[in-house]
Amino acid sequence: MTTFARNQWYVAAYSREIGRELFPRTILGEPIVFYRTEAGEAVALADRCVHRRYPLSESTLDGDKIVCGYHGFTYDKAGSCVFVPGQTRIPRTARIPSYPLVEQDSFVWVWIGDHDKADPALIPRAPWLTDPAYTTVSGMEPLAARYDLLVDNLMDLSHETYLHGGYIGTPEVANTPITTEVDEEREVIYVSRHMADAECPSFYAKSTGIEGRITRWQDIEFHPPCLYLLHSRVAPVGVLPADDGTDPDAFHVEVVYAITPETEHSTHDFWAVARDFALDDEEVSRFLAESNRTVVLQDVRALDILEQVIQTEPEGYQELSINIDTGGLAARRFLKRMIERGQQSEQRQAAVRS
Ligand code: FES
Ligand SMILES: [Fe+2]
Repeated sequence: MTTFARNQWYVAAYSREIGRELFPRTILGEPIVFYRTEAGEAVALADRCVHRRYPLSESTLDGDKIVCGYHGFTYDKAGSCVFVPGQTRIPRTARIPSYPLVEQDSFVWVWIGDHDKADPALIPRAPWLTDPAYTTVSGMEPLAARYDLLVDNLMDLSHETYLHGGYIGTPEVANTPITTEVDEEREVIYVSRHMADAECPSFYAKSTGIEGRITRWQDIEFHPPCLYLLHSRVAPVGVLPADDGTDPDAFHVEVVYAITPETEHSTHDFWAVARDFALDDEEVSRFLAESNRTVVLQDVRALDILEQVIQTEPEGYQELSINIDTGGLAARRFLKRMIERGQQSEQRQAAVRS
């Protein structure tokens, strides 16, 4: 039985990655081929020819149709086979699954599950990524580690002090207690850490130009299974938002991650950093892109090591959790629930079919 949460939206790619080339990516263990039609619509189909399972991503586009590179079975954008070689009759079962897609906030979201449940209104938003009031840098790093390890990592930022010292970590991150709130109904987890007087790490010192100590707020908002938002606020010590909620003297950075399982043991780690200052400063963009990628790669290295540890250890290892793990534990609980919901739905569908 699958350990993935099905009947959910996941980020499959950035919109910019999908064009007129056939683009393969595995999501929740399902090989998928993506492309755009001549009219620009993004399409996702199973990346396996129904005939002898040749990957359609190794094939060619003919207008909006894919011609299998092995024996020429031809599929339209809905996955229906419209041509087979050597005969006029097309078998009734000659079709491949298609996937619902939504392009929003610079991402291509794919629905993995029953099509009739694919409600675009369920997709959480990251509006900063396309808002002209922000400038965004972004990327994706492949992770040779299971999805849960990245969720754990992002839900507990105390690791910044140790794993990302010199980049985004300072002693105050690990030393400042967090508050955690869990919205059971909407299935959103909030973890906040407000540092009143903290050292300014190079990530913020170089990008904002602030000299000296800072007030630093980290407000996490995780929408399991995929979208993780870190609202980061940085200002000189003592500078707080005004009573009316405006905050003109602070620097705001929206750090967005999309966490998408590739297989049971690998994950797509999408990251984006949107800022509301130095909007046209390309040097700041370059610096933030390089720094954030370095930080992501530090996580990737640590999590790849952990994946190996887990795969080679005997069953029954007992982890020890403390206060900093509250958000991560809530995420695990929600994910378990989502996996179970997906499985129940699969069982119901199977029962209807049989
Ligand atoms: S495998 Fe695709 S046509 Fe034969
Ligand atoms: Fe990290």
